[in-house]
Amino acid sequence: MIERLWAKLGKSSQQPEVSVSADNVPEHVAIIMDGNGRWAKHRGLPRMAGHHSGMKAVKRITVEADRLGVKYLTLYAFSTENWKRPKAEVDFLMKLPQQFLEIELDELISNNVQVRMMGHKEDLPSYTLHAVEEAIAKTAGNTGLILNFALNYGSRKEMLEAIKQIAADAADGRIAVEDIDDKVMAGHLLSNGIPDPDLLIRTSGELRLSNFMMWQLAYSELWFTDVYWPEFTETHFRQAIAEYQRRARRYGGL
Ligand code: IPE
Ligand code: IPE
Ligand code: MG
Repeated sequence: MIERLWAKLGKSSQQPEVSVSADNVPEHVAIIMDGNGRWAKHRGLPRMAGHHSGMKAVKRITVEADRLGVKYLTLYAFSTENWKRPKAEVDFLMKLPQQFLEIELDELISNNVQVRMMGHKEDLPSYTLHAVEEAIAKTAGNTGLILNFALNYGSRKEMLEAIKQIAADAADGRIAVEDIDDKVMAGHLLSNGIPDPDLLIRTSGELRLSNFMMWQLAYSELWFTDVYWPEFTETHFRQAIAEYQRRARRYGGL
């Protein structure tokens, strides 16, 4: 069945409608939300304005993902490498989850969204962690879209920690080395319990993973756009999904 979903045409956007099939909607979409700084620079604004505007895109795309029937939406919000940025920018980024959730949590709750976090909690400021943990607790019973924030996330750190845990289990005889398989590895990753992304989107024209979900993306479909994250709309999201639906996933088979 083909369901026609129409773009909400904003005042300035002249974007064409994109039809998405109700069948074969990706269960898990992961997004590297990139280009906030360049978006701001092109407008003569401070980088922080780009991050602020990017928050609105998070809201838009969450609503659209839910509407289309995506089950898991993972958003790369802060990498383990982003600590290298100037302190003022890091501080600003660390305040965004709290700011976002203050505005949006009630609506997320009423829309049955379940908030989760995937990342290394230990280095986060307490106010950041507290805001996220409060949202996780308040939405734990929700059964709709799972909105998974990758916050202080790094794929290499995630895999190294998994390997250390598995090695310790093997050394202590809790697991035999020959029993270590994909499932054991996946079970020790921060994404434990979440299926691998079906579709990865990266905005802003960069063509790299930047240490994002390198284990989990092994067979994901990749979709890149030059559009900066703050200007990423529902229409772009549907374009990505429509293209995903045209692809043949072979997983090495025929
Ligand atoms: C993405 O936008 C947000 C984060 C990485 C936190 P950037 O801040 O990377 O924006 P650009 O890439 O500098 O334009
Ligand atoms: C990736 O973007 C991280 C996030 C979107 C949170 P970056 O802007 O940090 O990536 P690089 O530095 O261009 O690879
Ligand atoms: Mg960037």
